[in-house]
Amino acid sequence: MTEKKDLFENKSKNWDMSSLRVQNAKEIADVILKNIKLASNAKVMDFGAGTGLLSYFIAPAVGEIVAVDNSPSMLDEFRAKQDEFACDTDVLLLDLTTHDIDTKFDAIISSMTIHHVQDIKLILAKFYSMLSSGGYIGIADLDSEDGSFHDDNEGVFHFGFDRDELAKIATEIGFKDIKFETANEIKKPNATYSVFCMTARKDI
Ligand SMILES: C[S@@+](CC[C@H](N)C(=O)[O-])C[C@H]1O[C@@H](n2cnc3c(N)ncnc32)[C@H](O)[C@@H]1O
Repeated sequence: MTEKKDLFENKSKNWDMSSLRVQNAKEIADVILKNIKLASNAKVMDFGAGTGLLSYFIAPAVGEIVAVDNSPSMLDEFRAKQDEFACDTDVLLLDLTTHDIDTKFDAIISSMTIHHVQDIKLILAKFYSMLSSGGYIGIADLDSEDGSFHDDNEGVFHFGFDRDELAKIATEIGFKDIKFETANEIKKPNATYSVFCMTARKDI
């Protein structure tokens, strides 16, 4: 079997050194914590957790975070600071589009990852099946953009998302209480990109 290329190998070491990224994760975490009821013992999956920027800001509010990512180098960075998270953490190296996890979560959160997933219906349906009844998703990513956000678009399947289209897919899957909020605006030299946070609930 051929190993899949680690698309983040050259970025992982310096990932956390971007204050824009840290600030973005903080803004997203604030929206998630405001819009999702999380019990202090909640078990949460961070999909595409990377080095753990979003997990870090969510950790004080929950019991356990399972960091799921298919990049070995990004998860090395997560593991290197595992002692600093304010809750229990576990790390799973896998591609969630092709592998399953036999666990239920109270919430599934994600920051800047779903644009790397080709089949959005498949991943949202997976999230739905992995949530406990009454569980929440809190998914943040770029609003529709012109393809200029990334310097290199290898592994980028979506130039951001149209909120209405995403809401339609989530509704078809069965999610309730679908809400969007603008979590952040990322200012780059040539353009400003807005970041949404979609929250939704699985029925009880
Ligand atoms: C742009 S980074 C965001 C990292 C982190 N969430 C943050 O906000 O800093 C996207 C992450 O998603 C991971 N990823 C992309 N597709 C994935 C998949 N199918 N399964 C698991 N992880 C995936 C990548 O390896 C990468 O670490």
